[in-house]
Amino acid sequence: MLDLTTIRSELGSHYDLEPSLELAERMADIHARMGRVMPWPDWAIHAPYVAAINKLKKERNAVVLAHNYMTPQIYHGISDVVGDSLALAIAATKVEAEVIVQCGVHFMAETSKILNPRKTVLMPDMEAGCSLAESITAEGIAEMRARYPGAPVVSYVNTTAEVKAASDICCTSANAAQIVAALEGDTIIMTPDKWLAQNVANKVPQKRIVWWDGACIVHEQFTAQDLRDFRDWNPGLKIIAHPECPPDVVAEADYAGSTANIQGWVETERPRQVMLVTECSMASNISDANPEVEFLGPCNMCPYMQKITLEKVLWSLHTMTGAVEVDPQVADRARLAVQRMIDLSQRLAA
Ligand code: 13P
Ligand code: SF4
Repeated sequence: MLDLTTIRSELGSHYDLEPSLELAERMADIHARMGRVMPWPDWAIHAPYVAAINKLKKERNAVVLAHNYMTPQIYHGISDVVGDSLALAIAATKVEAEVIVQCGVHFMAETSKILNPRKTVLMPDMEAGCSLAESITAEGIAEMRARYPGAPVVSYVNTTAEVKAASDICCTSANAAQIVAALEGDTIIMTPDKWLAQNVANKVPQKRIVWWDGACIVHEQFTAQDLRDFRDWNPGLKIIAHPECPPDVVAEADYAGSTANIQGWVETERPRQVMLVTECSMASNISDANPEVEFLGPCNMCPYMQKITLEKVLWSLHTMTGAVEVDPQVADRARLAVQRMIDLSQRLAA
């Protein structure tokens, strides 16, 4: 576990990290991208870290790949690429800089390392896991293969490198239904998210989909009744869900999609009021780009995503610690499953 007291005093002796309204005002262009959700006193706290990280990124020849669930100060302040899991995986294949700082969870850093193995991939906090990735091992995949002989295994990217290596192809929430529909065979094994699998089964009725019993601790907490209540209280409200939510929740929503697709939907439809049934940072990060949209309703925080902070990013770049390693043989097999997904989803989108 990272010792934050030591980190703070060590960083404080190398960088000027005192809150500064003057610096915050000089960096008003960055603040303007998140002004709706970031009061100036908070920005005065974050600005010194953002300035230090952006300078250090150049010195270390590093880029920051950040998931849509990162806090606004990470998402708008220090990121070179932002996106959903699919976009970040594709971006990782194209990185030319020496160092990738993965602002997201551990499986995302592993995916970057698998796809671009010569780069140093830094994870600011190794404990940023994922309830889905923790729910299955390679033995679980073998168990499913034994139960459904001959059926292809589609594993969500929210899995470890070992699980990807044991799978035939990966998917993300952006392409799961298209990948499953394109595979040969009547029965498809989907791991580890039972809710994503059931949502895909509803969209691809021509396939028999069997699933592992995993779930996202953030999205499984929403209920269909929550959505109905919010609609009753706010007539005209549009509701957008992530497909990691249970199927009855997705059925109550006006649209369901990956985090990038949620953003795309809001930007295209420009609803007067919208509720994003997903992680809280999603609405915060797209709020300023959609000033006429009012974001309402409850959201849940992902305790894993929230482990990534500006302080830990600065520490990992300062010390160059937290490099993610994947056994090369495992990486070779995992790369096949991820690359098959990227190739197939790009072919299907063409
Ligand atoms: P997306 O691929 O939709 O960004 O989702 C990743 C994730 O972890 C959502 O919980
Ligand atoms: Fe995993 Fe859910 Fe957190 Fe995404 S939101 S990283 S699926 S626990």
